[in-house]
Amino acid sequence: MYKIAVIPGDGTGPEVINEGLKVLKAAGKKFKFKYETTMFDFGGERYLKTGKTLEDQDIEELKKYSAIYLGAIGHPSVKPGILETGVLLKLRFSLDQYINLRPVKLYSSDFCPLKDKKPEDIDFVVVRENSEGLYKGMGEFKDKDTLNEVAIQISYNTRKGVERCIRYAFEYCRKRNRKNKLTLCGKTNVLTYAWDLWQRVFNEVAKEYPDVTTDYAHVDATTMWFVKNPEWFDVIVTDNMFGDIITDLGAMIQGGMGIAAGGNINPKGVSMFEPIGGSAPKYTGQNVINPMAAICAAGMMLENLGEEKAAQAVEDAVITVATKKLKSLAAGKMGYSTTEIGDLVVKYL
Ligand code: IPM
Ligand code: MN
Repeated sequence: MYKIAVIPGDGTGPEVINEGLKVLKAAGKKFKFKYETTMFDFGGERYLKTGKTLEDQDIEELKKYSAIYLGAIGHPSVKPGILETGVLLKLRFSLDQYINLRPVKLYSSDFCPLKDKKPEDIDFVVVRENSEGLYKGMGEFKDKDTLNEVAIQISYNTRKGVERCIRYAFEYCRKRNRKNKLTLCGKTNVLTYAWDLWQRVFNEVAKEYPDVTTDYAHVDATTMWFVKNPEWFDVIVTDNMFGDIITDLGAMIQGGMGIAAGGNINPKGVSMFEPIGGSAPKYTGQNVINPMAAICAAGMMLENLGEEKAAQAVEDAVITVATKKLKSLAAGKMGYSTTEIGDLVVKYL
């Protein structure tokens, strides 16, 4: 019996999570696994009412679950940064979800903004470090609000943190068993402390994986290759900030935020699965947002729980609905409403 903590969150989060739960229910019936869900109201509304984001006792409670299923965090009436650091990043950090796994897969050329790219050209996974780097929140102001002000933001990289991420990426690449190619995406030519460490650890760990081909690309060049030659990539490993940036570009070349899912993974603890698109306030409550990213996140959660057949079936159903039914993957342009798409995925499952 899986215990799933559900955090619908803000904006369109609850709408897309509803559809994901619909699909989860159908998958449970078909593949005969049992689970129970518990709802948590963390997010903007709760913060506006109570002034609370996420307390340490909430974290302790969440540690009792098999997985967390999250909609979106971000509210137009809350100053940027409060909910992101107080809820989303706090979840990632305190549950030590040190990997952010972001598959980039094109289901149909019709969804791709790039000319002449086919599904076989865009099929890679970004392994983003999820616990350190610029996201650590280290830094300071000097002489704040004067003309001499200095703002320092530190990228914090530990040998242990970098190594566990790189090791995960090698293991993942081997298990995925496609092109067996792992690309380190960094900036060794300028950021000569952080990326020296990353490069050294990468080269060292690579010796243990002679079956995996290794490659290196600067982050700026990586964005260029995503557009020009996405077929070069299989698995990419990178730090928190670069991973954040390149996966938004990745989402666009696979058809947009409507289809992009991610997993925040603690291989030995509680992992969390989410659509990566955010709370999309302008579409809230209109039944027009694409729930496929949330449905794919549920699929990733099933895979992580060990329900591999169910996970595959969810992805297959999403592919069928996306390619055979939808006009576009973008909000309001799909030809179907949010709830209709959930129903269609259930039907094809
Ligand atoms: C993401 C988001 C978050 C991040 C924000 C909302 C804090 O952009 O999951 O990619 O920067 O990691
Ligand atoms: Mn992001």
